[in-house]
Amino acid sequence: DSPVTPPTLLRWKREGRRVVMLTAYDFTTARLLDEAGVDALLVGDSLGTVVQGHATTLKVTLDQAIYHAEMVARGARRALVIGDLPFGSYHESRRQAIRSACRMLKETECQAVKLEGGRRMAKTIRAVVEADVPVVGHVGLTPQSIRHLGGYKVQRDADAMLADAVAVAEAGAFAIVLECVPTEIAGRITETLPIPTIGIGAGPRCDGQVLVTPDLLGLFEGFRPKFVRRYAELAGAVREAAGRYAEDVRGGSFPAEAESFR
Ligand code: KIV
Ligand code: NA
Repeated sequence: DSPVTPPTLLRWKREGRRVVMLTAYDFTTARLLDEAGVDALLVGDSLGTVVQGHATTLKVTLDQAIYHAEMVARGARRALVIGDLPFGSYHESRRQAIRSACRMLKETECQAVKLEGGRRMAKTIRAVVEADVPVVGHVGLTPQSIRHLGGYKVQRDADAMLADAVAVAEAGAFAIVLECVPTEIAGRITETLPIPTIGIGAGPRCDGQVLVTPDLLGLFEGFRPKFVRRYAELAGAVREAAGRYAEDVRGGSFPAEAESFR
């Protein structure tokens, strides 16, 4: 299978083929997800919550995002790797956005960046795209705006979201994430835009879906949004494995002779 690129996703939109996206933060997981046939790996700033243990995504730095994008890109063979631009790394000016986006592509092997915001970020998206960095947009619930929004809630202003999504597409983004958007609104946006919509909590009418991998694996138990479907229960498996190891060490049955050197 040939590597997935931004033009691939645009072709799939025309062909009606759905995009399978998951988040990844490290080499080992990225390699497994790539081998499973996942089309796109997002090095999300959800890094801040599921890897770093913060309450929000706001604390992630550009250096940290680059460090993780580098590891993920090393694990991906076929999947398109997208580096999320963290809070504060593209808000100052178009110049700063270009600098941050170019760092992501120069210092890692990832192929695109994602940034949050609709109409208010349209000029920024255009500037980054014109600097030859492919961009994925993100509208609806934008977790970097959490201090404005006051909480993680479903977004219901249909006209505003459609205008935001259209602005992102017109600015040159090759795909857009719709987060916590009612099915009807996400469906309307999907029918309107010439670029694929990737939903998370945005219903089945999007062109693709993304989930936070530790949520899908049942590994992260901090909170569980309604839109998460767990395909494994790894948290229990990890506790069970570590518990049995502890028993074996304390009881002296690990390591056995076969696990020791003569
Ligand atoms: O950071 C992230 O994981 C994301 C996805 C939820 C889209 O932005
Ligand atoms: Na994100």
